[in-house]
Amino acid sequence: VPAGRCVVAVDGPSGSGKSTVSRRLATSVGARYLDTGAMYRAITWAVLRSGVDLTDAEAVAKVAGEVDLRLGTDPAGYGVTADGVSVEAEIRGPEVTAAVSAVAAVPAVRALLVARQREMIANAGRIVVEGRDIGAVVAPDADLKVYLTASAAARATRRSAEDASDVAATAADLARRDRLDSTRKADPLAQAPDAVELDTTELGIDEVVARLRELLADRGVA
Ligand code: DC
Repeated sequence: VPAGRCVVAVDGPSGSGKSTVSRRLATSVGARYLDTGAMYRAITWAVLRSGVDLTDAEAVAKVAGEVDLRLGTDPAGYGVTADGVSVEAEIRGPEVTAAVSAVAAVPAVRALLVARQREMIANAGRIVVEGRDIGAVVAPDADLKVYLTASAAARATRRSAEDASDVAATAADLARRDRLDSTRKADPLAQAPDAVELDTTELGIDEVVARLRELLADRGVA
């Protein structure tokens, strides 16, 4: 690992603990943090605002290409704006969550965001990047690739605790999104062959972060 440079790829399904773990890991090792899901969500917000048909891939790609999307890489707060409007709250809302899998399935949208993500990674020294295709597509040369999993029940319980939603409804929504995200043709959710799989069902956040720090130490990163 060259001095100062380090890329950690964290992939996995919704509710596997990716966001919390990635942010904490970045903070604890003094790294930047990139939430690629927030990028797909912000594009989805712009698509919904534009009123184009979600099933019209060409129209969706056009909106994605025109929106001025910005976000930072500070794990303490990375501010997401689309055309100058802060969309941090909106991208977590039910409308965006329901539509994001369709937008993320459009190959031209993925090509655009993957290029942006690679640029942001190249400009950061140390960075923890979370998403669905980071180890397999965005950063195949990452220093550490992690694939987080958890039982469907644990994932639904965590998500509904975060947004005070009903556990059964959340479980159904997660199952729907996992199915869409894993079966789409363009860069489906996939575990890279060289990723370390970590089942977080029975682990607390601190234990997961400690385990990842051990894996980094094994690779010579302090
Ligand atoms: O991690 P999240 O729930 O914020 O991700 C939102 C959606 O974006 C998710 O349904 C799948 C998609 N996504 C993706 O396709 N590729 C990524 N690298 C990150 C997210």
